[in-house]
Amino acid sequence: MARSDLVTRRLTADDFDQSWGLGLEAFGDLPAGTPAPTPEGSVAPGRHAWGTFDDGRLVARIVGREYHSWFGGAEVSTCGVAGVTVVAERRGDGLLSDLVRAVLEEARDRDEVVSTLYPTAPGIYRRLGYELVGALDTVEVPLAELARVRAPVGMTTRRATVADVGAVRRVYDTWAAAQNGPLTRRGPSFPESDEEYLAEHTGTTLAIDDAGEVMGFASWRRGPGYDPAEAALEVSDLVALDPEAHRALWRVLASFSPVVGRLRLTTSGDDIARLVLPTSSWRAVRSRPYMLRLLDVPGAFTTRTFDGDAEASFAVAGDPLGLLDGGYRLRVSDGRTACERVHAPGAPVFTPQGLALAYAGTQSSATLRMAGHLTGPTSYDGVLDRLLGGRRVHIRDYF
Ligand SMILES: CC(C)(COP(=O)(O)OP(=O)(O)OC[C@H]1O[C@@H](n2cnc3c(N)ncnc32)[C@H](O)[C@@H]1OP(=O)(O)O)[C@@H](O)C(=O)NCCC(=O)NCCS
Repeated sequence: MARSDLVTRRLTADDFDQSWGLGLEAFGDLPAGTPAPTPEGSVAPGRHAWGTFDDGRLVARIVGREYHSWFGGAEVSTCGVAGVTVVAERRGDGLLSDLVRAVLEEARDRDEVVSTLYPTAPGIYRRLGYELVGALDTVEVPLAELARVRAPVGMTTRRATVADVGAVRRVYDTWAAAQNGPLTRRGPSFPESDEEYLAEHTGTTLAIDDAGEVMGFASWRRGPGYDPAEAALEVSDLVALDPEAHRALWRVLASFSPVVGRLRLTTSGDDIARLVLPTSSWRAVRSRPYMLRLLDVPGAFTTRTFDGDAEASFAVAGDPLGLLDGGYRLRVSDGRTACERVHAPGAPVFTPQGLALAYAGTQSSATLRMAGHLTGPTSYDGVLDRLLGGRRVHIRDYF
């Protein structure tokens, strides 16, 4: 891993000062109120930081984080890439590829089968096999326009306590399992205790049906001020499994309108909340694109389950990291999925980016062909579209 006098290696707690300094330089100071990181935290379980050193000085760094994402109704092991930084004077020197390769090869050795990241510019990662599959959005809705959300039927609301965190997690799990992309919010990269989970928000409001079942929740933080022209209500999470639960939650949020002008919601894609809101005011004020690449094709496919029996062969060509190139056969039968490397001459060929888009269900085979990400015979297009389509990409956690 050495190139001339460069050394790429895992970072330890002893590298904290250099690594933290590089991060501050690239991303600026932490927002007020964010707890300062510590050397111990930088090597916490689930966090795998790598750096490139030139004569003992850290010139580039990257972090791989252990996650699981929902794809096709299954929990797919995921390497979340974050904190990518090259020192200003060495940008453009090509230091990134070796670092990305190091962190992803290590992730693959841990059996992580896909990798995702939030790019500052997609061009940086496209050439490493990633493609845009979705975005985490911040949308603003004027609270006055929510005054006419109709009263819910058979649904009440109350503030969540620690005893409700299990029910909140169940609502999130039910919603997330029906999408492609959301993190499972379990494992070393997420708060373990219910107290920590709840402490991340000033308020979590529950929607509860007549049977006492929690059907939705909204986690919100009341920002400063009470001039409606300036104040905003930050809603970091709003998930509901029922239209009446949506109405109940949105009415609670709308009740702030005399003192808060805008609601700012973290969401993604086509949020079903819009189907119950009486307003079309829904303005994205920030969009954080999200990229995906596969690390292990058989692993990524066999984790998923598919409906109905099916068989398809395909190939991948042009992976700059050399992890995916080759032929594959995917077989689904009796609810079991098998995907193996095969010699597949004449099979349709995905680029690594095309495979990411197909795997996420973001694009159909026909549109991938138009974008140059799928070539060759069309015989399996219908099978692949049926197996991989049908779920929308959503993400709700930034890293
Ligand atoms: C982003 C960053 C890590 C890239 O470092 P770098 O030294 O330019 O990377 P490399 O020289 O190894 O190669 C990067 C490749 O991405 C491309 N690239 C770099 N910045 C880009 C940008 N903003 N938009 C599109 N492509 C970009 C380069 O052209 C190069 O491609 P090429 O080899 O085909 O010419 C560096 O600019 C940086 O630290 N920026 C500030 C922090 C940041 O944005 N981090 C990314 C967080 S997701």
